[in-house]
This record gives sequence, C-alpha cells and structure tokens, in this order.
Amino acid sequence: MGDITFKKYLEELKKHTPYNFCDYSDNSIQRRIEKILKDHDMDMNQLLLKTKTDDDFVEKLVDDITVNTTELFRNPETWEYLYTKVFPSLRKKKSINIWHAGCSTGQEVYSNLILFNELGLLDHTNVVATDINQKVIRGAKKGEYDLNFNNRYIEVFDSLMNKLGNKSSDFGKYFEMNNAKDTMKVKDFIVKKPKFRRHDLVEEEIPFYQKFDVIFCRNVLIYFNPELQLKIVRKFYDKLYDGGVLVLGTHEALHGFFKTKFIKHGMVYTKSNTFHFKYK
Ligand SMILES: C[S@@+](CC[C@H](N)C(=O)[O-])C[C@H]1O[C@@H](n2cnc3c(N)ncnc32)[C@H](O)[C@@H]1O
Repeated sequence: MGDITFKKYLEELKKHTPYNFCDYSDNSIQRRIEKILKDHDMDMNQLLLKTKTDDDFVEKLVDDITVNTTELFRNPETWEYLYTKVFPSLRKKKSINIWHAGCSTGQEVYSNLILFNELGLLDHTNVVATDINQKVIRGAKKGEYDLNFNNRYIEVFDSLMNKLGNKSSDFGKYFEMNNAKDTMKVKDFIVKKPKFRRHDLVEEEIPFYQKFDVIFCRNVLIYFNPELQLKIVRKFYDKLYDGGVLVLGTHEALHGFFKTKFIKHGMVYTKSNTFHFKYK
C-alpha cells in the first residue's frame, strides 16, 4: 500500500477535509480504500496528495467509502411492528418528529411516510433525513428510482398491506410509474414532506432543536467501531423523548449501559427510564 498505512491516511484525511473515518470498523474501511487505490491505479501517497488538493475527488471518495445500499420496506417485519404497535401510539401527539440518520437515497424515509399516510399521520409529522454523502442526498430529494430494479417492492408493499388489513391500498397512490423511462417516482405529496440535508453523525453536533419520537438509524452503526457506536447512541438517547423509539438494522444492537435504557422488540428500541434489564 505504499509508504503510509491506511490508518495514517485516515488521520490525514481527517486533518485536511471535514471527514473523519478513523473510528469506522477496520475491515470495511480498509477494503474500501484498497478498492479505491485499485480503481484509480494509485498508491497511498498519491491518494493522500489527491485528497489534499482536489475537493471534488474528496466528495467522490466519500461516495466510494460509504456503503449506500438501501431498499423500500427493507425488513418488512420491522415495518409491520412499527405500523401495528408503534406508529398508532403517536396519534395522540399534536406533532410527531422523526429523524432518519444515514438515510441514503431515501427509500427508508418514503417507506415510513407511506405508512404514515396509511395511518392518517402525515399532516402533523415533521421529518428530517440526513446522510454524510451529498450524492445520495441529491438522489433522496428527487425520489426517483429505477423501475425495473425496484419492481419487486410492489409485491413487498402489497403483502405488507395485506397483512396490515389495507388490501385496497395501491402502490400507484404513491409512485408515478414510467415504463418508457424505466422510472418510478415518489409522488409530490410524499416527496415534499421530508427535509433532506447533509449531516455527519460523527463529526457534527445534532443541529435540530427538537426532540424526536422516532429515530431511524438502520445499517449505519455497523460500519463504526464499538466506541463510536456508543458515542452515537448516547446522542440518540439524549435526542429522544421518553418513550421515543430508536430503530436499528438487523445486524446491529445496543451494548453496555444503553442496553439497560431501552426496551427491545426486534430492531425497535423504546427509550425507558427504568433499568428493566437489570431487574429482570
Ligand atoms: C447502508 S446505508 C443504510 C441506508 C438506510 N438507513 C437503510 O437501512 O436502508 C448507510 C448510510 O449511512 C451513511 N453514513 C455513513 N457514515 C455516516 C456518517 N458519519 N454520518 C451520516 N451518515 C453516514 C452512508 O452514506 C449510507 O448512505
């Protein structure tokens, strides 16, 4: 890999750019950097030089380092639980605040808002959705996806609606399908709802003044080392109302102190002030 190690490179990246990947888990970041070197036919010294001198390259680098895989109604069982047990309890609130941290290209946000619409909760809901990667935020704002590739989510949607007793609900209510262009676009009444913005969970304070009823941070913590995960979960804990809910990805979990501060159901963690795990 040339003269400098990938760890040293990450420290330099932190010094010269707004990005700090030092506490991402070693395996995944190392693999990504190795791929970048190969794709650009560079050694570590050349990569560092380019990083220090070319801002556009740095943005492209962030795009290559972050993993942006996402899908509509990912892990339907989590949505089913949210729809039947969590979201209805928000009905009594005057306004509902939701944050999608690490939202990628927006499919998670739109899945959430479609279910909110089905429950009649859309009007009094505020949604912020953030990601470190500028490019995915641009895509999320557009809400336009490749139809061929995403076709199968119509089935996921129908099966979820069947299970939830909304058999008459129709995917076409939420998406404009264009077979000629091979696109499906989220309709305006949904697409206009979230405030999408770039935000780095690691380096920036949480800029939102309000507390949240639900924070989604699915398949993001998995890329961080355990210390960084703890630091971010502490921020989420502080930003949740009592009884508020944190939703994680299937391969993620709370550890240590915060395990005692949430009640777990599947991937859904409800903030609780009692040390329930301790006394069970
Ligand atoms: C695998 S995607 C998960 C998308 C969606 N939450 C889901 O589960 O389908 C992970 C996202 O986390 C974002 N991410 C990584 N590090 C981040 C950071 N420090 N701050 C904010 N977002 C970050 C990536 O850019 C990527 O879009």
